[in-house]
Amino acid sequence: MRPSKPIGRRSVLRSGLAAALGAALPLPLRQARAGDWLRLEPRPGTARFFGDGGPQTGVWGYNGAVPGPEVRVRQGDRLRVLVENQLPQETTVHWHGLRIPHAMDGVPDLTQPAIKPGEAFRYEFQVPDAGTFWYHPHVRSSEQQGRGLYGVLVVEEPEPPAVDRDVIWVIDDWRLTEQSAISETFDHPHDLSHDGRLGNVATLNGLDSAAFAVRAGERLRLRIVNTANARIFALRFEGHRPLVIALDGQPATPHEPEDGRLVVPPAGRVDVILDMQGEPGGRYPVMDEFYPRRSYRYLDLVYDQAAPLRNSPLDAAVALAPNPIAEPNLAEAQRHDIVLAGGAMGGMRSAILDGQTMEIGELAGRGKVWALNGIAAHGHVMEPLFTFRLGRTQVLSIRNETAFPHPMHLHGHSFRLLTRNGNPVAGNPWLDTVLLAAEDRVEVAFVADNPGDWLFHCHVLEHMQAGMSAVVRVA
Ligand code: C2O
Ligand code: CU
Repeated sequence: MRPSKPIGRRSVLRSGLAAALGAALPLPLRQARAGDWLRLEPRPGTARFFGDGGPQTGVWGYNGAVPGPEVRVRQGDRLRVLVENQLPQETTVHWHGLRIPHAMDGVPDLTQPAIKPGEAFRYEFQVPDAGTFWYHPHVRSSEQQGRGLYGVLVVEEPEPPAVDRDVIWVIDDWRLTEQSAISETFDHPHDLSHDGRLGNVATLNGLDSAAFAVRAGERLRLRIVNTANARIFALRFEGHRPLVIALDGQPATPHEPEDGRLVVPPAGRVDVILDMQGEPGGRYPVMDEFYPRRSYRYLDLVYDQAAPLRNSPLDAAVALAPNPIAEPNLAEAQRHDIVLAGGAMGGMRSAILDGQTMEIGELAGRGKVWALNGIAAHGHVMEPLFTFRLGRTQVLSIRNETAFPHPMHLHGHSFRLLTRNGNPVAGNPWLDTVLLAAEDRVEVAFVADNPGDWLFHCHVLEHMQAGMSAVVRVA
């Protein structure tokens, strides 16, 4: 089978609208009392992506479900999670985007030993920032996440903006066989060196995303979380004007997205305020238009017949209060350059792997085709690419010298996006994952205030697997 069949709807397999219209997640997991431990069991389970009457797919999920349980906690609370590994492989849990102590970051060998099958690990930390975050393994990521291991973590603001519904949209794609099984083509060489593992079925909250039910006049807060291995989404809401209020969990100056499309890279989150200003009984497509000539109708917003809840949009503030992140001081910054190289059509001729310079052919033979500053990563324990002085502002200037886009993620910190291709970025948003288009250059800045050895890697999981990863030290 070709590794990347075009994505498409498989209407024969869909059991009908009723199931898809639900698309709501089960009740969130939350600690009833301070001191309670939440339980997450990564284990095999089954999913029905095409609704109740559709075929079953064997998946791996937290507590057997895809997506895994939504974890909810209030800002400043201590989160306690007991993870019991019921998989046939080692695993860990990484709390993506949370600025928490190194020992809780969930990177095997670097921050903790991997959790063996049948064993458990206790994650316990205070949650500093309010916003939309998520969790996933950091062991054999392309396979474990590709089989369904991930869940959303919502950290509630003390005073959230007034909305009628606060809704999570986990957007993902799956590579399924004709029999609706997960395709076992993990780390296929073509995926490693091109766009990563793109799927052939797109889902919303674990269901073939046909429709999402809304009511005219209501105001939604949509928390969009991209859990795909590789697919970058660019969502255009026909007839609607989503207003971005947070990126990667961090409050952003409320704004409409440039050219009307919400670009959400793998691991990215976008919180939007969406006023449902369509007609009762109407149907409005949401298109996914990221890949040229491969756009498709991701889902429809399906309006109830009921009269509008109100006649003009809710008149209430939507801006979120900032999180307590140290502000970079550019005047005293340490500066570093990072070059992304490799991949198909990238022209990389050699790189260093395990301390040895190798020609591209030999690298590829070892499953490595990408490098950061000339070094292809193997595993998670490496000589640090840079050492950042604890407490000092760091400016990273990142250049993508490849023919593919890369969402680059830094652990343990959020950073401000200062410039793109030499131009200042409006609002200098806080991010933890910055998307670089082919040939892009960006500058990001942050205070290195979280001590430890942290991963910096591409969140296209096949690119990470094939070398696009590094360690940076804060000391
Ligand atoms: Cu979602 Cu290493 O991260
Ligand atoms: Cu990449």
